[in-house]
Amino acid sequence: MSLVSPKSLKPVAPSPHGEGYRIYMETFGCQMNEYDTELVRSIMKARGFQFTPVDEEADVILFNTCAIRENAHNRLYGHLARYKARKKERGLVIGVLGCMAQNLKEELLETRSWIDVLVGPDAYRRLPDLLTDALEHQRKGLAVDLSEYETYAHIVPDRTGGINGWIAVMRGCDNFCAFCVVPYTRGRERSRDPEGILEEAQRLASQGVRQITLLGQNVNSYRSGVWDFARLLVAVAEVPGIQRVRFTSPHPKDFPPALLEAVAQHPIICNQIHLPLQSANDRILERMARGYTRREYLTLVEAIMKKGPIVLTTDLICGFCGETDEEFQETYDLVKEMEYQAAFVFKYSERKHTIAARKYPDNISEQVKGYRTNEIIELQKEISLRNNQALIGHEVEVMIEGHSKKSDQQWMGHTESNVTVVWPKTAQSGLPGDLVSISIHDATPSTLYGMTPTS
Ligand code: SAH
Ligand code: SF4
Ligand code: F3S
Repeated sequence: MSLVSPKSLKPVAPSPHGEGYRIYMETFGCQMNEYDTELVRSIMKARGFQFTPVDEEADVILFNTCAIRENAHNRLYGHLARYKARKKERGLVIGVLGCMAQNLKEELLETRSWIDVLVGPDAYRRLPDLLTDALEHQRKGLAVDLSEYETYAHIVPDRTGGINGWIAVMRGCDNFCAFCVVPYTRGRERSRDPEGILEEAQRLASQGVRQITLLGQNVNSYRSGVWDFARLLVAVAEVPGIQRVRFTSPHPKDFPPALLEAVAQHPIICNQIHLPLQSANDRILERMARGYTRREYLTLVEAIMKKGPIVLTTDLICGFCGETDEEFQETYDLVKEMEYQAAFVFKYSERKHTIAARKYPDNISEQVKGYRTNEIIELQKEISLRNNQALIGHEVEVMIEGHSKKSDQQWMGHTESNVTVVWPKTAQSGLPGDLVSISIHDATPSTLYGMTPTS
């Protein structure tokens, strides 16, 4: 391998910058990946590496990747192509981490020869040695063993999230939904000890975090001894200083009554549940191996609504193998009826190794998939706009999270039901982490606009 690595660089701590080697890191994919990036930062810093937000200053470029749909792959390929040229100009080590590394393994190294290091989600403890080897000895490194035990217990994530904190309470997924690559990229389900999770929540609170999101591919499967997810959620909500707790994602097939009770009753646990439907047609649900029927999903929704006011959001897949126009229409009609707060709608994308890839032809054309996806996106936009417009003239409680994307003269935050709110800063408008009342005067499908009430 011809890697032009500056020979003066020493492993770990010392470097030509008088500090450790510098890493520039980009993260794609879900919140679990954001959390893993915090773990990687911590692991690398403990070995003397530094992080830089400027890629031109970096010795190492790391991508923490997602494999959930083909467009996630394509995004990474675009980024990698850019760094191929830069690597030729000056010595750079390029590492690919996360779900795509796990899913494609050697194939990625073979087709993109300028990648030096490939590390899957269960092997981050090996990253410092592999990167040092690549930097010092120009050796390629591959670590893609999945583990039944690795939960990164005792690694304190190096946070960058301000008043928002994430805690992965479990890793992996055993559900094997037919379309999904996650069980292959993240391996078997395993839960962390509640003690470690509560310690982490207390630490986050002491660092100024006010809102915690508990993460797992299937959080309601959390189990550690006598602890289930509902008990854990309540215990996190009881941590002094934490003002809001959220969680994602629960699976509709095993949503326990105790969890619903916790969401409905506990003032700190937000009244919003992400309940991925995927499809409203029973034949498709069965093909997807989701483990619930349309009726069972609706029975759960009824139970949730009885406890009301709880807001629902969802995920949907359009154009799954063999989905007919009528079957799609059932999903469309149910979305119309459900009036979700938000829906994340995806074109089905066949993933290697999955049950669907092995069993069913991916036989819906791109055009039809695109058409169906847009139909539901447009429908949901109308629903979200209507819901949001209903708040015009009312006051909503919002947690200040930081500046809005557009201006540092505006604050951005979310309502308890997770709608984004933007409003102008004023002298008395508070600081990140504060819960404030905002009077709404305008709405789009995704954002409420308001101001601090005058009296
Ligand atoms: N564990 C989470 C899902 C994580 S993936 C859960 O079960 O809720 C997030 C979403 O991506 C899924 O809910 C699904 O709607 C979508 N998705 C997963 N695999 C997909 C695929 N192959 N094609 C299109 N969308 C997919
Ligand atoms: Fe994928 Fe299903 Fe597991 Fe979610 S529950 S990560 S969709 S296999
Ligand atoms: Fe993507 Fe892996 Fe998350 S496939 S959605 S980064 S679990």
